[in-house]
Amino acid sequence: MAIILPDLPYAYDALEPYIDAETMTLHHDKHHATYVANANAALEKHPEIGEDLVALLSDVEQIPADIRQALINNGGGHLNHALFWELLSPEKTEITEEVAAAINEAFGSIDAFQEAFTVAATTRFGSGWAWLVVNAEGKLEVMSTANQDTPIMEGKQPILALDVWEHAYYLNYRNVRPNYIKAFFEIINWTKVAELYAAAKA
Ligand SMILES: [Fe+2]
Repeated sequence: MAIILPDLPYAYDALEPYIDAETMTLHHDKHHATYVANANAALEKHPEIGEDLVALLSDVEQIPADIRQALINNGGGHLNHALFWELLSPEKTEITEEVAAAINEAFGSIDAFQEAFTVAATTRFGSGWAWLVVNAEGKLEVMSTANQDTPIMEGKQPILALDVWEHAYYLNYRNVRPNYIKAFFEIINWTKVAELYAAAKA
């Protein structure tokens, strides 16, 4: 067994004009594939720890020191991207009542949430991710992480993710990350967000 690169759940050009086919092709076939290959290379050095990346990254101290950072970077890179693909949708989806209620409770309004998420994504310096997570108290929270760090490492369950590495947007949006963030809100798979929210609350 090994970690497998999942197929995209839609065609490479399905998210155009918001995310172009060339970006999706490179992002999935090269960047994500490399995280998978490197995660497998790290795991092969310690077959005794298994391959459950969620369990391993939930408690990084249990990861053998010689592969710990490699697994944070590449195991995290795999989990983050696998989640990200599923959180994008070529078809318009609507925010569900349950998720809207939780967002309103945490942020006051959908607009205020969008603003907080946009700030997190815009101000993440260098490479990283913006997240909507369910925290240990079961409440929603917006946060960002550096590199491929996952909120799972902090005991938080991600239900929405935005990759703000330059590889995610530079071909189309060049240096203008805010336009990419704006486009992201047009292609969020709210059905998947609702599914992840329900699972995190269970
Ligand atoms: Fe990425």
